[in-house]
Amino acid sequence: MNKKKIALIPGDGIGQEVIKQGVKVLKTVESLDENIEFEFTDFPWGCEYYLETGKMMAEDGLDQLSSFDSIYLGAVGYPTVPDHISLWDLLLKIRKGFDQYVNLRPVKLLHPGLTPLKGKSREDIDFLVIRENSEGEYSGKGDWLFEGNPEEVVLQTGVFSRKGTERIIRYAFEEARRQKKKLTSISKANALNYSMVFWDQVFNEVATDYPEVETESYLVDAASMFFVREPERFEIVVTSNLFGDILTDLGAAITGGLGVATGANINPEKKYPSMFEPVHGSAPDIAGKGLANPLAAIWSVAQMMDFFGEKQWSDKIEKTLEDVLVHESELTPDMGGKSTTDGLGDFFCLKLKELK
Ligand code: NAD
Ligand code: IPM
Ligand code: MN
Repeated sequence: MNKKKIALIPGDGIGQEVIKQGVKVLKTVESLDENIEFEFTDFPWGCEYYLETGKMMAEDGLDQLSSFDSIYLGAVGYPTVPDHISLWDLLLKIRKGFDQYVNLRPVKLLHPGLTPLKGKSREDIDFLVIRENSEGEYSGKGDWLFEGNPEEVVLQTGVFSRKGTERIIRYAFEEARRQKKKLTSISKANALNYSMVFWDQVFNEVATDYPEVETESYLVDAASMFFVREPERFEIVVTSNLFGDILTDLGAAITGGLGVATGANINPEKKYPSMFEPVHGSAPDIAGKGLANPLAAIWSVAQMMDFFGEKQWSDKIEKTLEDVLVHESELTPDMGGKSTTDGLGDFFCLKLKELK
């Protein structure tokens, strides 16, 4: 029996709506497989909790989460709470506190009709971005000097440690070797004359341990252009925290939008729980209207199953995503459909059952 304890943090806005659909999918998996059992615990943390308590999560929140096999998170962010508070005290606190230094974000076209790129097929858009997820531009370090004076200066420090840089690049090489794929490093050493020079140096050093892995290196500006014009250049990409953040929204744009983009925050050593979430945010512009596309959150369930060693279920969920995307009228409005968040969640579960 594969029994897993899952912490649910639906969070804010559409996070609550899409996690509900993901839980339906998990329960469907449970009902179809007698060897799998999930135990869910709900955590009401987020901006509403903050407005009531002054905290984004319980004081001992990380302790409470530490015994779970995974965390399933919706989204964080609310118009009346400053983003740098809400995100740093919940989402980024978990990523950093649990040393989830690997962020796996597939850029994969699940249905040919979803890409705005003319003439690009499913084979052309199928790669994995491995984003550094613990430091870099997101070190949280900086300074605010002479506030309000004409001499005011603000510093935001990028921190690229030897350990942090080497471990993400090594993880990417291992993955490239395992999958027999080309590995592309995306950096920016021409302008960022410390951090990215170091990044490139570490990439080249680690590469000598993997002579069988083909490598390429791009500057992030040029890489952005190639994401759009020639996405077929990429197989596995490794990049820094901020570049990975921006490039994966671009990746979402070429594969159907944020409604269908997923990300896994992994602590590979399994010392701490890993966290699964859609790439999108709380989308206050559509929250509470049943308009949110749940497929990104459902795809996160596939990543979670893969992480749990249930590859057959991650494959089945991905296959069902492909099946569902054929039925345009059953989709949410962001994909040209007429359905609701709930309606699409139900339709997905129906199709998943049919696959069995
Ligand atoms: P967003 O991802 O919430 O929304 C961007 C646009 O995409 C909006 O027009 C939204 O309606 C649309 N969209 C997003 N997800 C969708 C879905 N599932 N279905 C249909 N349409 C969808 O980004 P934003 O507007 O820049 O940020 C809103 C808030 O979310 C901010 O507070 C931000 O900090 C936060 N945020 C949180 C996370 C996270 O928790 N992981 C990620 C990104 C942004
Ligand atoms: C993401 C989000 C977060 C990030 C924000 C909300 C801090 O944009 O998961 O892509 O920048 O990592
Ligand atoms: Mn982002």
